[in-house]
Amino acid sequence: MQRIFSGIQPTGVPHLGNYLGAVRNWVALQKNHDCLYCVVDLHAITAAHDHRTLAAQTRDLAASLIACGIDPEKHILFNQSAVHAHVRLGWIFTCVARMGWLNRMTQFKDKAGKDRENVSTGLFTYPNLMAADILAYHATRVPVGDDQKQHIELANDIRAKFNHDFETDFFPEIEPLILGPAARVMSLRDGAKKMSKSDASDQSRINLTDDAETIALKIKRAKTDAEPLPSEPAGLEARPEARNLVGIYAALQDTDHTGVLREHGGKGFGAFKDSLAALVVEKLAPIASETRRLLGDPGHVDAILRDGAARAAAIADPIVTEAERLVGFLRP
Ligand code: TYM
Repeated sequence: MQRIFSGIQPTGVPHLGNYLGAVRNWVALQKNHDCLYCVVDLHAITAAHDHRTLAAQTRDLAASLIACGIDPEKHILFNQSAVHAHVRLGWIFTCVARMGWLNRMTQFKDKAGKDRENVSTGLFTYPNLMAADILAYHATRVPVGDDQKQHIELANDIRAKFNHDFETDFFPEIEPLILGPAARVMSLRDGAKKMSKSDASDQSRINLTDDAETIALKIKRAKTDAEPLPSEPAGLEARPEARNLVGIYAALQDTDHTGVLREHGGKGFGAFKDSLAALVVEKLAPIASETRRLLGDPGHVDAILRDGAARAAAIADPIVTEAERLVGFLRP
């Protein structure tokens, strides 16, 4: 069976983009794969973070993933910093990856912006650790949103160079799984920007913890154009806001753009937004209440993560030890 690995950062509350672009697919893939899902707290400290809240945010996110349907018994759910193999292999990959490769990463350019001299060196080498996350388990399939595609390509470059330099075929090729009609959910305020935890405006995103009223209001205020919905997907071209809302609807309904437009084509946005808000609330409300229930017993969530980390380490430790041997380290 092919092994799946994916991760999510505990920086702020997860939003509808995380859910539709990633977590929902993680849940579905559990049916016929061995899966590891990781709250990547090591990645979370590459940007400024609050050391007083990181642990709680890590636990909250784990609870939210379980509430979404991640099964921590049949599969493995853990936080990254608890499994040292990530850092061990991450260092090796930092010495395999080339400056030129990392210089091409668009996410680094976006996040660093004009402040390049002042960001942490960890933000620059971030993709090396991400490659280590996946390859420490010999995982071959990685379900992610569209924004992570370039990082997966880099991980494949790193594994190819490792294999070449150390005369081995030890690390397998990784296949990104970018699935469904909402692999890139856009901001509700600007159809050209992706929905993001770091957007200054909370109106730009739907958080998995938002209540029904807040969700309805955010969708009502979402930016749109003045035309009614088209009856065919071709009519969504050059209408990014309309395309985004239709994509969200399609993902939540388990259909595609065509299916949504068959039902709603010709309607104005007022009516469509009412249906969309009802659908989002119907799908998210049970997740929010289950998350709250789980967090009523934080010790239980911590025990799940501890058990996950032990099972993850049991897989990763021998793989990373072998990678260290291939690099040439003495193990006296
Ligand atoms: P992160 O925490 O930014 O996002 C978690 C997942 O959500 C997806 N995503 C989106 N999908 C659709 N539309 C959006 N607007 C949107 N925003 C986020 C992301 O693509 C991601 O799948 N670098 C990763 C975490 C990571 C990782 C890994 C992923 C660390 N190591 C190893 C896979 C494998 C990140 O920052 O995700």
